[in-house]
Amino acid sequence: MTSLYGSLRVHHNPQAASRETRYGEPALSVINRQRFAEAMADISSWPGYEPTPLHSLQGLARKTGVASLYYKDEGFRFGLDSFKALGGAYAVERLLLDFIRDKDPERKPNIEGLITGQYSDITSTVTVACATDGNHGRSVAWGAQTFGCNCKIYIHSGVSEGRKKAMEAYGAEVLRLDGDYDHTVREIAADAQAKGWYVVSDTSYEGYLDVPRDVMQGYTVMVDEALSQFPDDSLPSHIFVQGGVGGLAAAVCGHLWETLKADRPRFIVVEPDRADCLYQSALAGTPRPATGDLETVMAGLACGEVSLIAWDILATGADDFITLGDDVVGPVMRLLADGVDGDKPVVAGESAVAGLAALLAAGEDPALADALGINRASRVLVIGSEGASDADVYERIVGRSAQDVR
Ligand SMILES: Cc1ncc(COP(=O)(O)O)c(C=O)c1O
Repeated sequence: MTSLYGSLRVHHNPQAASRETRYGEPALSVINRQRFAEAMADISSWPGYEPTPLHSLQGLARKTGVASLYYKDEGFRFGLDSFKALGGAYAVERLLLDFIRDKDPERKPNIEGLITGQYSDITSTVTVACATDGNHGRSVAWGAQTFGCNCKIYIHSGVSEGRKKAMEAYGAEVLRLDGDYDHTVREIAADAQAKGWYVVSDTSYEGYLDVPRDVMQGYTVMVDEALSQFPDDSLPSHIFVQGGVGGLAAAVCGHLWETLKADRPRFIVVEPDRADCLYQSALAGTPRPATGDLETVMAGLACGEVSLIAWDILATGADDFITLGDDVVGPVMRLLADGVDGDKPVVAGESAVAGLAALLAAGEDPALADALGINRASRVLVIGSEGASDADVYERIVGRSAQDVR
């Protein structure tokens, strides 16, 4: 399908569960209410916790031909500039609490004690580690600093100096390796094994499921906030979420399905066309690698393989999968920065706008709107998953700094 927003591929998921289908296994074992309640209780007790804003973009809604458009602005999350602050740091917190219980069952550790350093004799012996292209590593580094353990991070040659510095600012030791993201993942796994570090990854694979499950459950705090911020007890009819390995999309999808049941919105996953692992998996009906070269400006979405536990939810929970090209990114970032028809300016990073871009494309292409069931009655929620997480990249694309925009 071709539109002003570049050429899109759209796949309606033939495996999508009907609205009457109840949320059940295997998705339930990944994202569920009980573990959500634990995540909400923990994360809302962290210093600096505040729900991020849900902006009503009525000007853009009018331009697109929908009843309303809401933008969950994760640029404000814990001063870390992305929703990822909820995931990696939460996994670090849980890992440390388990570790203390294991070492000294008498201690009965709690979060306040972690933050105030009451168990530092134990936590200072722990090193958490991850490979990242930015946002996840920043969350893990911040979690390690907040909860009192050490942190090693491997990045690949394409990760900007700004993102490296942001992780170092939280005390992480960051090592840049030659090669691509997959290489850093293999190297950190090997070094962690050899040196007794604990890998905190945001993606899951055979034999490594528990930590990424905590990461994803942390993300559901954002979904719950968004639901309670929707005005007048109304609910979204559609939600567009961008996908990398699928952890974010699956956390949102699973939480909405379990909470809203048959009233859950139509769920649309959007990816870069060069990093289309979720789209390819949907076509095949089973996990498949991306066909593209992963070279995309949407750095947070440049993932070649789906997370297995994310796929357990999206396989039947997602209604549609869309891919789009990099050419949409700059125009949509600038559109948000300018504000349409009275909308307040919004700072959105390059990995934050894919979902919104797909909606805007539907606003210009009746066939696409029809295919997605978008019309004048639609109430759309998009997840603005990051702000200016790299200030230089943001300014280069938008032509103004995030500060000037705000
Ligand atoms: C800003 C942003 N949005 C979306 C995503 C996609 O999340 P996931 O890889 O869980 O699909 C990422 C991943 O790093 C990200 O940084």
